[in-house]
Amino acid sequence: MEVVRISRLEFSYGELFSVRADSLAVEEGEVLTLLGPNGSGKTTLLKCINALLKASGAISICGRDIRSYTRNELSRAIGYVPQAHAPSFPFTVFDVVLMGRVSYLNIFQQPSKADYMKAEEALSTVGISSMRDRVYTNISGGERQLVLIARAIAQEPRLLLLDEPTAHLDFRNQITTLETVKRLSRERRIGVVMSLHDPNHALLYSDQIALMKGGKILHKGPPGEVVNEETIEEVYGLPVEMIGHSGRKFILPKV
Ligand SMILES: Nc1ncnc2c1ncn2[C@@H]1O[C@H](COP(=O)(O)OP(=O)(O)O)[C@@H](O)[C@H]1O
Ligand SMILES: [Mg+2]
Repeated sequence: MEVVRISRLEFSYGELFSVRADSLAVEEGEVLTLLGPNGSGKTTLLKCINALLKASGAISICGRDIRSYTRNELSRAIGYVPQAHAPSFPFTVFDVVLMGRVSYLNIFQQPSKADYMKAEEALSTVGISSMRDRVYTNISGGERQLVLIARAIAQEPRLLLLDEPTAHLDFRNQITTLETVKRLSRERRIGVVMSLHDPNHALLYSDQIALMKGGKILHKGPPGEVVNEETIEEVYGLPVEMIGHSGRKFILPKV
């Protein structure tokens, strides 16, 4: 089943910049990576998919036009982890994750035992149970990123949108986070659209890659077809070399 389908999407910030996506679709259990330089429109496209920006064209979520969803239905269906996040109030890590359950409650309702369990489970899935009682404003940017991913998981979305989920994360946490994302997409049949900066991460963790530049998708398809020396040089303007190792391909900058 298709979790998201985008047709003839167009959005502009006035005359300044516009983003276009003629056709993109993500099945359940599949990971689509938006790969492209700073300013290529990745965040804008993610915000269009989440209906934070009103784009023209059509977006359907689980076969239904996004405009027919209420805001509450949308926040159950779509988990969104934004690129940069300024913490506001000193909630505990656990409370931040529990907020992922808000769209399941009506305004006067307290979270149930089941909601608490989903939050605990989300912490453990992301491997941060030991952080549950820490204060959100006193943890590192990378730790916060993991907490927000746990919150999105507690939400039990059909579609997970992750904007640079590995930014601020150390070498190990970049890999463990991407492993977690891929495992969740497979196990819970979640469709994932994420933006990444490292072509090698994109090669390792994507089912599809959309290579973006100047608000346009220049190439899309399976990693092996989309990522090569020519396409990466075209998009980043940097000479690169593709090398093979243990049956996998890697991109190295020519420096
Ligand atoms: N609110 C805004 N108003 C005008 N231009 C914007 C706004 N937000 C982003 N842009 C511009 O849109 C372009 C794409 O931005 P963005 O989608 O954030 O790219 P990416 O996430 O790939 O780095 C950039 O040139 C940026 O300056
Ligand atoms: Mg961005």
